[in-house]
This record gives sequence, structure tokens and C-alpha cells, in this order.
Amino acid sequence: MCGIVGYIGKRNAYPILIKGLHRLEYRGYDSAGVALINAQGQLNIYKAKGKVAELEAYASDKDTTGTIGIAHTRWATHGEPNTVNAHPHYSESERLAIIHNGIIENYAVLKAGLQKEGYSFKSETDTEVLIQLIEYTQVNKHVDLRTAVQLALQQVIGAYAIAVLDKDHPDTLIAARKGSPLVVGVGQEEYFIASDATPIVEYTDKVIYIEDEEVVKLSTKGQSTKGQSTKGQSTKGQSTKDEGIEITTINNVQKTPEIKRLELSLSQLEKGGYPHFMLKEIFEQPRTLADSMRGRVNVRQDNIALSGFIDNKERFMNAKRIIITACGTSWHAGLIAMYAIEEFAQIPVEVEYSSEFRYRKPVINRDDVVIAISQSGETADTLAAIQLAKEKGAFIFSICNVIGASIPRLSNSGCYTHVGPEIGVASTKAFTAQVVALTMLALCIGKEKGTMSEEQYLHVVRALGQIPDKIECVLSQNKRIADFAKTFTYAQNFIYLGRGYNYPVALEGALKLKEISYIHAEGYPAAEMKHGPIALISQEMPVVVVAPRCGTYEKVVSNIQEIKARNGRVIAIVTEGDKMVSKIADYVIEVPETEECLTPLLTVIPLQLLAYHIAVVKGCDVDQPRNLAKSVTVE
Ligand code: G6P
Repeated sequence: MCGIVGYIGKRNAYPILIKGLHRLEYRGYDSAGVALINAQGQLNIYKAKGKVAELEAYASDKDTTGTIGIAHTRWATHGEPNTVNAHPHYSESERLAIIHNGIIENYAVLKAGLQKEGYSFKSETDTEVLIQLIEYTQVNKHVDLRTAVQLALQQVIGAYAIAVLDKDHPDTLIAARKGSPLVVGVGQEEYFIASDATPIVEYTDKVIYIEDEEVVKLSTKGQSTKGQSTKGQSTKGQSTKDEGIEITTINNVQKTPEIKRLELSLSQLEKGGYPHFMLKEIFEQPRTLADSMRGRVNVRQDNIALSGFIDNKERFMNAKRIIITACGTSWHAGLIAMYAIEEFAQIPVEVEYSSEFRYRKPVINRDDVVIAISQSGETADTLAAIQLAKEKGAFIFSICNVIGASIPRLSNSGCYTHVGPEIGVASTKAFTAQVVALTMLALCIGKEKGTMSEEQYLHVVRALGQIPDKIECVLSQNKRIADFAKTFTYAQNFIYLGRGYNYPVALEGALKLKEISYIHAEGYPAAEMKHGPIALISQEMPVVVVAPRCGTYEKVVSNIQEIKARNGRVIAIVTEGDKMVSKIADYVIEVPETEECLTPLLTVIPLQLLAYHIAVVKGCDVDQPRNLAKSVTVE
């Protein structure tokens, strides 16, 4: 939530910052801004409401020179999204500038104190309070900028990733983090900072992940890159021998910077010929799922090897209960896992929204296993939920996509999904990979516990190996889905129904539609329809029914008949060769047959495509839907 980027070096900073902001736009796009110190020592700030393109247009006739700068794309928390509240913010004297991702919770108290000292505020933001506090500290305690940042942050309650410029020191950039991500890119006589590595990848593959309550000072004065080494995956524990980087804690304890090698390629950040990242990511799923299973699912030997499980078998074997915690789409993946874990491993599972779990004084025992699911690995509520569970002694296993993110770092063990960067705000490929990872885990536990038959285990392992090809078959119907999606752009509401493993798919299909097309949609367990939603059914109401031929299929067919009897329009997702539903539904999309527990991996694909095409026909901004952000790092 909010993206920050900074540069210090020999090049013109502005184009690097703008490109970086475009890469970070998935984190928020209410407003954008940039601060640059030019060769004359002037600190120029330009800001615009809306997307980064608006900022570019605004700054096109301004002085954008300077080899040091910081920039920000905002997802508004304190103060409406307008130019005044946009970052960067000046300090009182306009000598300092700051960008910030996070929330300063005690900003009101700090602001009142500063107002008593004569400080005035232009914006409604918590961020402006922080830069004023830094300047106040610098002036009144007669300390340098880094010390002022350290002392100010000692007074702050909340989360932050910040970067600060001082026009009197154009050779120094200070950044710090707590709770919000911050990466430093180490180039040749130049440095980058960013919320994630995407703005950095084309300039360097050497990165340093800043830890909580660390302050990094980057300076070009006396900088030398000699002696640096990044052989292998990382240079763990090795000093960078780079005088340009100094890391301390906010209490001024010296830290040794650890340079890691970035495993990210530029092509992963581009649309590759697709009109939108979301469509690219939907079509990537056969490959991303193969990547998620690589080295784990061995179809020839009919076996699954999940190192995070193997190394911690005892914790799973002794678990009396598994608690799954997540938000949004990841929560839907957790709900599917509940069905799989209870079926195969016979361990009771509770699936909790992280935001509820962390605040409702949950009973957590030392022999509980808590599974956190998060694409970004940074979702604030999920992070807080596992912090709480860890304090109570539970074992934390996380399913994440972003390597090295906060959630996997806090976990005892886990499993990365390895789908590469997901840039479309609506999650697609991350969801299917989470379902695959959780299914693999359920199978590992079930096999180890002996709670599933060998035959059933073999069937599912083999079927898992076939999923990428089967998704290709579903994707081949894209054109037809695009055609009939046009029929539904009139709709104000949609209902999605499913049962068993496909009830969470109904929820996910409804969420996708809401997120990107702004059509109200509700997901329901099909049998619950009679307890309310049936009252909504009319000719105007499209109902998407997920009805593969398994489990409670016949009962779902009866639900479809009930909808048709009330003139509802039915779009049904069925198994290839289905005869019953095809006769009564208005539109039918077939998916190949597979094991029941794996059907969500196929049935969700047409729902992703349906939401995508409806949003495109409605002219919505598919990759950056209004008010949403990809990574929710605030409560
Ligand atoms: C936001 C995103 C969703 C995502 C949710 C949880 O709402 O827009 O796509 O499912 O956060 O994010 P996480 O990174 O924890 O999976």
C-alpha cells in the first residue's frame, strides 16, 4: 500500500523514479509525487492527484534535473487523495522532504506537540507530522539528519517505510523501515531504494532487504564498490565493504549490510503482448502451476516432497488443530484447504480472516499449527495474526509468493508458490498456486498420518500432475467466454453458487467480478440459496453455478432447476460431456474431469476470464481497479 522509490548516484534521477513508480503503481494510485535536488541545491517537489501519468504530464515543463530524488505513489489513509496530501512532503523550512508508506498511529499527539512549538501543517497526513518531527529534532538537538531520523522514529508508534532528503546534503539519502517493506539496490556508484525490487531489477541484481527498525544511510561521498561480492545466492553475513551504505538501528546500533542476489527478471514485469497483466497472469497458470509443483510433485514416483513439511513432520503429526489465516483471495484458498486437510489428514481446520482473528482473543494452543496464506507476504493483518499465534507458541507455516517478505520471515516454516510477480491487482495465478501448495500439504499430512488410502493418494498425485494441461483446455475457451461476457454488462448484480470444494470458488468468482467490473456479486453455498438469495432471482439476475460432476452434483442440478423455474439466467461451469446441466443452463463452460479436490483449479479459470471480459467490455481499469491496492500493508 503506497509505493516508494528513491535514487542517488550519477544519473538523472527523474526517469528512474518515474519508471519505478509505474512498476509500483499496483500498490496504490490515488496520487503520485516526486522530490529532486538539482545541481543548484534546490529541492523541487511535484505532485499530482491520480495516476503516475498525471504526475508526468504535470512535471513535463518543470525542472526535473537532479541526481538524487525520491518518489511516491499513494493509497490514501489519512486525508483524501488530493495534491496537498500527496507525497513527498516538505518540512516546515522546506529544507527536508519525505515519502512514507505505512501509518503513524500516534500522529495526532506528535502533531499537537509540534503545533505548540509553532509548527504549521499544510496537509492532513500523518507523514507530514513525521518530517516536521525530524526537522524539529535536527534543529533543536543540533544533530545530523540520520540521528534526527533515528530519534524521531523512536517516538513513533506505527508502521513505516520512509525516505528523507535534505537539500543541504545532496549526497545523502536516508531511509528506514518498520512493518512496511524496503529494499536497497546496490549499483556501481549508485543506490536505489524501493518498496519492492521491481523498480530496481533493470539496474542491479544486488539488493539488501532492510529489517524492521533499521535506518539506512546511502551516500555518494567517498563511495566505493570495490571489494563487493555476491557469489552464489547471497553474500549472507558478508560486509559489503561499501562506504556508501551504512545501516544502523533506530537506537544507533551498527548493522552489517547483507547483499543478496535478486532472482527476478525484467520480462516477468512486462505484459508480454497481452493487453493487461491480469489476462497475462490468467494465461500463465499452466506454467506457474508447473513451476509450483516442480521438484515437489514427482508423478513418475507418485510422490510429493514438500521440504517445509518434511523438516517439521512432528509438528503436523502432533497438531490437534490447524488454523488457517489469510485475507481476500488468499482466504478463499484457505477455505478450499479446509476441505482437503479435513478429508485427507482428518485434522480439524478453522479458517479465519486475519483481521478478525487478531482482535478476537482467540484460543491458541502450543500444539496448534497456524497456516498463513499471503501472496505478498506483507498483508498487515495476516502478519499481526501470526505474530500473535507465535507468541502463544503455535507453529507457523506460511504459503507465500514473494520471497523474503515479512510473513515468511516470521514463520517457522513454509512453502513458496513460485509464480513470479503478480501485478494485476485482482489475484489469479497466486490463488491457483496457493491451492496447489495447500493440496500438496494436505496430501503430505494425510499420507504420513495414514488417514488416506494409498490408492486415493496416488490418484490425486497423478491428477495434480495433469492440472497444467487441463487448464490449457479451459483457457482455449477464452474467445467464447469473451463473446458471451458482452451479454452481461447490463447486470447490476450477480450470484455465484457452488458446493463443497467449489463453494470457495463461488466466493472467489464473485470477488473477481466485484473487484474489477464494480458489479455487485455474492457467492453462496448453493444449498443456502433457498434461505435468502432466491428472493433476488429474476430475468435480470445472472447466476453463475459451479457444478462439476462430483460430490453433491445432483443437488446442485436441482438448485439450477429452481433458478430456471424463476426465470434466472444461468451460466454453468460443468465437467466435459455433462448432459443434465447443458439442457437447462443458458450458457455452459466445460472443464476437464479431475479429482474432486482439484476441481477448483479448473472451475475458477472460466470465472477469472468472465470477470476479466465483463470488466473490459465495461471499460474498467482491469489492472488497477478503483480504491484497491495489491498489497494491504495497513490495517
Ligand atoms: C488485497 C488484494 C487481494 C489479496 C488480498 C490479500 O486485497 O487486492 O488480491 O487477495 O489483499 O493479500 P495477500 O498478499 O495477503 O494474499
